[in-house]
Amino acid sequence: MSIRVHIGGRVCLPEEAKISVFDRGFLYGDSVYETIGTAYGRLFAAREHLVRLERSAERIGLRSPPRAEIEKAVAETIAAAGNPESRVRVILTRGAGKLDLDPASTDDTQLIVIVFPLGAPTPEMYAKGVAVAIVSITRNNPRAIDPAVKSGNYLNNVLALGEARRRSGAYEAILCADDGCIAEGSTSNIFVVRGGEIWTPPPAVGILDGITRAKVIELCRANGLAFQERRFSPDELRGADEAFITSATRGVLPVTVVDEKPVGAGAPGPVTRRLMDLYDQLARRGVD
Ligand code: PDD
Repeated sequence: MSIRVHIGGRVCLPEEAKISVFDRGFLYGDSVYETIGTAYGRLFAAREHLVRLERSAERIGLRSPPRAEIEKAVAETIAAAGNPESRVRVILTRGAGKLDLDPASTDDTQLIVIVFPLGAPTPEMYAKGVAVAIVSITRNNPRAIDPAVKSGNYLNNVLALGEARRRSGAYEAILCADDGCIAEGSTSNIFVVRGGEIWTPPPAVGILDGITRAKVIELCRANGLAFQERRFSPDELRGADEAFITSATRGVLPVTVVDEKPVGAGAPGPVTRRLMDLYDQLARRGVD
């Protein structure tokens, strides 16, 4: 199990990977990133992640290197790390410049790829489900840093997770939007099952349009499962029959405790287990 970093155009060991203290990613979180996982030894949905990376970069006016250059760096780093399954973090920063907030003062995009062992949730977490806490910190208003942009500025989410862990030791924090509706997790999207219907908040609430979320929606539609994008309240999450979170490194992960109280029967429910199974079949088939 090893970590390798692609930086400055070559792959190196983690202790050799250095970046300037003047880099705007470090100074201001002026960067964008993606986390891509492998499944069954192959990158899962890499193309969709790289499209989102380019879209995030475009939204903040950060010049992206050619797609082929990123793909080559990712492939070289995965090969050098040699892990059975990998978590790949692709980062673009605006680079180093003068101490000047103006983004136009620098145009020196840095591409960094970090490959870790996947570190997926344990089998026990999938079998029993995890606990989440609905936190007081709200998700960024889309008119501030739009949550649809996967920027490196995660302080809001860092603090949200800190609140959840401190308050109840919960595995994930769930953030609401300004209007009080449930938005998403600190690094995940959220779904509930109520009365046999699957709900997830629509993008207009102000969320990251997760790639795993999109795959789950496709699976619901392809398999005739009742699904709708709709807003729901913290009480509707607490009172759901089932709940689960999704992300690239977790796939579909059941949520069985919300704010220290069991959700539904307090165990992963039949709809969640069906989607876990369908998602696993999709991962086995592979998505480029
Ligand atoms: N996080 N919402 C937020 C705020 C996220 O950070 C993530 C992903 C998601 C899920 O998106 P996807 O299905 O495309 O992974 C939703 C990754 C795992 C991370 O930060 O490492």
